[in-house]
Amino acid sequence: MRAWMLDDFGLENLNLHEIPTPEPAAGELLIKVSAVSLNYRDKALVDGIYAPEKMPKGLIPVADFAGVVAATGSGVTKYAVGDRVTSHFYSTWQDGPWLPEYADFQVGGPLGGGLAEYQVLSEDAVVPTPPYLSDEEAATLPIAALTPWFAMREYGDIGAGDTILVQGTGGVSIFAIQIASALGARVIATSSSDDKLARARELGATDTINYRTTPDWAAAALELTDGRGVDLVIDVVGGEGLRDSIRAARGSGMVAVVGFLDGQSATLDLMDVIWHQTHIQGIAVGHRRSFHDLVRFLDEHHITPVIDTVYDFADAHAAYDQLARGAFGKIVIKVG
Ligand SMILES: NC(=O)c1ccc[n+]([C@@H]2O[C@H](COP(=O)([O-])OP(=O)(O)OC[C@H]3O[C@@H](n4cnc5c(N)ncnc54)[C@H](OP(=O)(O)O)[C@@H]3O)[C@@H](O)[C@H]2O)c1
Repeated sequence: MRAWMLDDFGLENLNLHEIPTPEPAAGELLIKVSAVSLNYRDKALVDGIYAPEKMPKGLIPVADFAGVVAATGSGVTKYAVGDRVTSHFYSTWQDGPWLPEYADFQVGGPLGGGLAEYQVLSEDAVVPTPPYLSDEEAATLPIAALTPWFAMREYGDIGAGDTILVQGTGGVSIFAIQIASALGARVIATSSSDDKLARARELGATDTINYRTTPDWAAAALELTDGRGVDLVIDVVGGEGLRDSIRAARGSGMVAVVGFLDGQSATLDLMDVIWHQTHIQGIAVGHRRSFHDLVRFLDEHHITPVIDTVYDFADAHAAYDQLARGAFGKIVIKVG
């Protein structure tokens, strides 16, 4: 089979190889990969800044993929040849609280990922692909859709009458807009671009703020909520801006710490946190039970993932380059 392998850190070391097709061990599925989608972590991993000490040489990268079961190992009971499946990122996190050992079983590093014609995964490391989605669409779900869903439904209880704030128009935030809007919540979206904000409104954002022309977007969010603040901020930006997310959240509201686009550390004014009684909640994607719940919800509401560009398998480097520039929604690479 053909597989992209990271022979060393740096995109120039992501090379296409011809290698033997893997065999499924007991409890595993051999999946014929149809499509992968890229997340910011996939780029950080290639750049060598995402747990580099844990990544094996020659890793097949990319966490999120969808495909068709081509063979099953002994003892497999949940899936059969021909079933359509979508990968689950924290492959051993099935339900319940997070445990540190789950970190070693992330699909797409340290475990092999989807940027190959075939990949093996445990039958507990996939969910059934929702029938209404193509494999290219389903490949966008495992990280970018589950992460905001987990924040809204497992740590929060977002529904009608609540207000959430999402930052920018990348993969996580676009899913956050679509999901929160389907839950009946009011959604305040920020972006550097008025054009993107117009598209965000078409997807369900009720209020929008351009964070370039309105740098104090937290004050704007407070104004939009009559000084109360929002129930949940999905913070994908991180860095020093975390302080603004705390300002924008209501008293006893939640800031879901998801991303680090602007940096991996922040200085907090503890009095802000104390007076606001803010819940600061770290999010690490989510477990498989919640992914199942999400898939049912998406199916029920027929939410269609927003794909910016689909690349051919041979053009994987170009897909990573676009990720570095930013996309509206998701970037997909066709494999099969
Ligand atoms: N903890 C987790 O479980 C988890 C899961 C998924 C992702 N993440 C993290 O979340 C972050 C976002 O991931 P993603 O895949 O959605 O990224 P992405 O698709 O690359 O999103 C990039 C977009 O974010 C917006 N942005 C960039 N800098 C910004 C800033 N300073 N203020 C406001 N918006 C800004 C821009 O939107 P505009 O062009 O509209 O301005 C940009 O297009 C990354 O750090 C990623 O590693 C974490």
